[in-house]
Amino acid sequence: MRKLQVRKTSPCALAILATLVAILLCGSAPMHAQNTARQIPIPLPPMGWSSWNSFSNTIDSQITQKQAKAMISTGMSKVGYQYVNIDEGWWLGQRHEDGSFVVDPNAWPALAPGEKAGDMSNIVRYIHSLGLKAGIYTDAGESGCSMYPDLGPVYMHTGSEGHYEQDFLQFAKWGFDYVKVDWCGGDKENLSAAVQYAEIARAIALAEAKTGHHLYYSICNWGKQSPWTWAPNVGGVAADIWRTSGDIVAPIVANSKNADRKASFPGMLSNFDQGIHPEAEHTGFYNDPDMMVIGMPGLTDTQNRVHFSLWAISGAPLLVGADLTTLSEATLATLTNPEVIAIDQDALGLQSVKVAESGAGLEVWSKPLSKPGERAVLLLNRTAEAKAISFLSHDIGLLDSSPATVRDPWAHKDLEPFTGSDSANVPAGDAVLLVIRGAEPKPTVYKPTRGAELKANHPVEFTHVASAARVPRVQIAYMNPDKATRFVELRVNGGTATKVAFPPTGASSLATVTVESPFEKTGANNELNFSASCDSGLGIQSIAVE
Ligand code: GLA
Repeated sequence: MRKLQVRKTSPCALAILATLVAILLCGSAPMHAQNTARQIPIPLPPMGWSSWNSFSNTIDSQITQKQAKAMISTGMSKVGYQYVNIDEGWWLGQRHEDGSFVVDPNAWPALAPGEKAGDMSNIVRYIHSLGLKAGIYTDAGESGCSMYPDLGPVYMHTGSEGHYEQDFLQFAKWGFDYVKVDWCGGDKENLSAAVQYAEIARAIALAEAKTGHHLYYSICNWGKQSPWTWAPNVGGVAADIWRTSGDIVAPIVANSKNADRKASFPGMLSNFDQGIHPEAEHTGFYNDPDMMVIGMPGLTDTQNRVHFSLWAISGAPLLVGADLTTLSEATLATLTNPEVIAIDQDALGLQSVKVAESGAGLEVWSKPLSKPGERAVLLLNRTAEAKAISFLSHDIGLLDSSPATVRDPWAHKDLEPFTGSDSANVPAGDAVLLVIRGAEPKPTVYKPTRGAELKANHPVEFTHVASAARVPRVQIAYMNPDKATRFVELRVNGGTATKVAFPPTGASSLATVTVESPFEKTGANNELNFSASCDSGLGIQSIAVE
């Protein structure tokens, strides 16, 4: 294997290597066959539980321990659930003179000999001892959502503004693995979300550098200021999620004044709709339509199944909001179906796109999966009557002339294969989820019209790019010989840029990442522009467009 000499001059300047890569990629050597490159592993949507929906501001150590234990005893951890996330209510807004959090010793006592009450690392240790991961919560503003309490008194100053470095360092020191950052204060103060969340990302990076402990970043500003346009890679994060809407339902806490609240099916559908931004969901960055309300009062078992199907085809974070100690058998079966979870956790990391609508409210959604020719297809009937929903093979990017296999992931059953078109009867307000595998047309491979290796002010450009799909998959073959992931701005047809992550490939091999690009308006004349603000050492060899 050929070894290239890497000289590190700045985080993104690899001058010698860049020249070599340019020779390798732009010279007269024949192109590598597109399909020999491997899809590089990327971070997948997080899975876990969050305290807010069922416990509101009453969250404490005892509740957290019980939920963590239930994540194990229900078998949920075996199918991938791992985060136990403590939401608002853990902190009442007071700080010591040095600015550090005052933590209530009664709510967060010592749990093992030698521990001190009022130290959040106690609960983290407990969660870790079960093989799970721990999440914590704050607000980007000065006062957090406790200024509008759901239960209990008003607490002001429950935000991290003015203390970003100190607070995120503390979270990392306590050992937390995940942090959700809300927007009540930021919203009230009319702050710029892109600016604040970038600053927080930098505080997290500093904390990680100081402690060696990674904090997964969950942005929660409810879709305000269009986070899908700035949240991927904000402040340099390698992976994150961002909320795309408000809460599906306010907390439903047993034996409280809010015990009679109900989650609603239309509310859940509305969050699903607001969460669809496929152009931003790629390479480890995910739209977050909110914690799931499956297993909470309000939805039937059928509606819970539709809810989970929708989150799975969205590639949404799978964060359960229900009380894990009281899940019914049906709910648990829904939350732990491995074939449906596999759709959510697919290695391509892409989102579903609506590809057909055979009548008002009769929708066909398709999520490309990593096996060639495989799609998760959801037939969603939003009307009040049972209806047949049909689709053509080419609606989901498959050849009309080739047979396709069909799997029902809920029933773990193979169904009749079809050629050209398929349909299913879907009851009112229900959905049919299918995994379909067929033959896909060979993608069209484009070489750059300009550039190949990314340098400051020297973008790599592809022009006259065509696709029959509205939002086609674009597989990018690249080489990143550096040790770090590179982030590059991709602009389609001069629109808003999205930052795409290019993990290291090694010095002499190609890999691919895949994005979905909005082509809807321009037919065969699309332009894709990759740019970096400094020399990146990254070579983009070609794109393959569906
Ligand atoms: C907001 C968020 C919720 C939850 C609450 C806590 O409403 O969207 O998910 O964190 O704040 O107050």
